Amino acid sequence: MNVKIALLGCGTVGSGVLELLTLQRESLEASMDLHFSIDSILVRDKARYKEAPFENLLTTDFDELLKGKPDLLIELIGGIEPARTYILKAIEQGCHIITANKDLLAEHGYEIFKKANEHHVSIGFEASVGGGIPIIKPLKDSLRNGGIHRIEGIVNGTCNYILTRMTESDKTYQEALSEAMASGFAESNPHSDVSGLDSARKLCILSTLAFSKRITPKLIYTKGIEQIDYENIQLAKSNGLKIKLVALAIHFDQKIYNAVRPCVIGPNHPFYSIDHEYNGIRLYGHSFGKIQLSGKGAGKMPTASAVFGDFLDYCHGKSDKVLSYSGDKDFSSLQINPEATRWILQITKTPSADELGRILQTFSDHKLSIHQNPVSNGIHLEIEDFLESDLIERLSLLREWCPQINVLPMLYLN
Ligand code: HSE
Repeated sequence: MNVKIALLGCGTVGSGVLELLTLQRESLEASMDLHFSIDSILVRDKARYKEAPFENLLTTDFDELLKGKPDLLIELIGGIEPARTYILKAIEQGCHIITANKDLLAEHGYEIFKKANEHHVSIGFEASVGGGIPIIKPLKDSLRNGGIHRIEGIVNGTCNYILTRMTESDKTYQEALSEAMASGFAESNPHSDVSGLDSARKLCILSTLAFSKRITPKLIYTKGIEQIDYENIQLAKSNGLKIKLVALAIHFDQKIYNAVRPCVIGPNHPFYSIDHEYNGIRLYGHSFGKIQLSGKGAGKMPTASAVFGDFLDYCHGKSDKVLSYSGDKDFSSLQINPEATRWILQITKTPSADELGRILQTFSDHKLSIHQNPVSNGIHLEIEDFLESDLIERLSLLREWCPQINVLPMLYLN
């Protein structure tokens, strides 16, 4: 088999893919009689790659790249445009696609898969969620009929890294973010990491696959980690807990709740030990029970390894099945968490004795049972079996008379 490859982008992940292809060439030729050539690499600025061994393959002109009639286009430029236009054009020309582009698939996956179906080409997208964790393939294949009803995921390495560093080393948010950027985990504009948007887009892909419905970012309640400060982290820590950004999807009574939100994780939950850039994805299925996958969710080689896996699947002819799923009109999207759940309320400004009395009275008046006593540097309260909508209503009462107290309600997973 001879495969002509065109690569879009040669940044962190693109250079990792080139390394893996180069490293594996001999063994692929020997074991699979697989021959491949990287014919063209699209970059924005050729000058950045002066004297690179692949300098002669570089182009800044996509149409010129397409004229070489590649069999396989590996798209690693990220973002919506021009990636969307390039991929659609390549599909029309019968070119198979591998992409790590979660932004594009979350926003325009329906259009891209439809076009791929029409032109009988495959789309490999293992690298779009969870970096090196193989999660897309199980969802598409072995777990497809497992009756998945709940997904929990730590799916953004940057946020997990920042929260871990703030917890273990008392780093400030900014210091931890700079470290994540230097390590190549963060997006070029890290706002999409810390705002929760990147997690929401990954959740769209997981939720779409798990529930066979078209889930788009606008259906996902999204809250990032920008509001989490030193006090929040310390309060959780002093109670033996950790704060993590969790993507959550619950299929409930023909409806779907999707959210990305900071959660407080107790020591009994497997996410408690998922730190730094590691991701974890937990699936709950009626037939298989619970499954959890974890691994490096961001960075050069883990993500390149997922792309490489898709490449091997393409070469083995295993990537022919293209995804198809129903539209977004045939299910309701739930705005509130349908499950009675446990919450942690953090009140981070130390209240006066009078304020504290009123806070506790407000909770007890509204039948919020409090499981933990206030700790010295703020209040950390655990309440049980409370629907989110009810909780929000009660909290608004509290804010009315004491707006300067920052109450942060977080789901408690333990
Ligand atoms: N910025 C992303 C993350 C990269 O931190 O998880 C992997 O998608």
